[in-house]
Amino acid sequence: MGIVASAPAKIILFGEHFVVYGEPAIVLAIDKRAYVKAEKRNDTNLHVRSTNLNLSGNFEKSTFKIEHGDAKEAKMKFEPIRQAVEKIREKCGQDIGVDIEINSTIPVGAGLGSSAAVVAASTLAVGTLLDVKLSKEEIFRMTFEAEQVVHGTPSGIDPAISTFGGVLLFQMDTGFKPLDVKMDLPLVIGDTGVERSTRVQVERVREIVDNFPRIAEPMMRAAREIVLRAIDAFKENDLNTLGELMNMNHALLYGVGVSEESLEWLSYAARKAGALGAKLTGAGGGGCMIALSKDEKLEKVLEAIQRAGGRPFVARKTDEGVRIE
Ligand code: MEV
Repeated sequence: MGIVASAPAKIILFGEHFVVYGEPAIVLAIDKRAYVKAEKRNDTNLHVRSTNLNLSGNFEKSTFKIEHGDAKEAKMKFEPIRQAVEKIREKCGQDIGVDIEINSTIPVGAGLGSSAAVVAASTLAVGTLLDVKLSKEEIFRMTFEAEQVVHGTPSGIDPAISTFGGVLLFQMDTGFKPLDVKMDLPLVIGDTGVERSTRVQVERVREIVDNFPRIAEPMMRAAREIVLRAIDAFKENDLNTLGELMNMNHALLYGVGVSEESLEWLSYAARKAGALGAKLTGAGGGGCMIALSKDEKLEKVLEAIQRAGGRPFVARKTDEGVRIE
């Protein structure tokens, strides 16, 4: 009998990039999830199949054999899963083979944390299958460590939000703190389809900060104030202010060099169609933008983003992190 677990995608609502310099960021789990089914095998192999990526392969110990799709891509995508499953097998003390089937509704490579969601869901599904009790803290740690092997994500934002869900305030020195956000946050997410590298975008900001320290410093302070003001706006149920803060945050991100033509087109189109605010989300240089909108304008904003060349979808905050289905 199989065990199915799922975990959510994320968006960064405020504070990306500035978070690397110690400022706070606000991250939100959204209602797009990765689903993972785990079943025992008769051998000791780990077999992984991703239906949406059309990839499958088999780990015999650490030797990977491709069955379907590109071997290099599959190895890179599946390696964090293998790392996490190995840890669980160690805890279980038995070399039991596992079949993993991934069905994800999260766009891949768009900065929405699809990889971490798959690893978090795999960890819970395999842990449950092998009777290894894991706390959320342990699932976060295991996902974080597995993800670091391949993606080297320093902040751990993606593993945290996939595991815990809801809204998290994150700061490098203090870590993650849940924010109790009661209000609904109707969002349209627009995928530019432009590929980007987080590492390159982080380096781009580094150059600007190094070359213009006295200009960058007040920008950092402004980014922090935006996050603090957003926390008040959550308490006051103030969607209009949150929209304005998103526009301001986008301007700062533009200033440190991480916006890009398609992100600008999509953000302008969203605002013109009635969005309360729009900004790039995550690393920038491509990837996704987000637009906050009143419910009645969501459809118009979605259409505008589509007409401007983006791939839009409506998303809402979800409070549920990794869970058994
Ligand atoms: C990327 O999703 C977010 C960045 O702030 C980098 C990071 O926090 O690791 C750009």
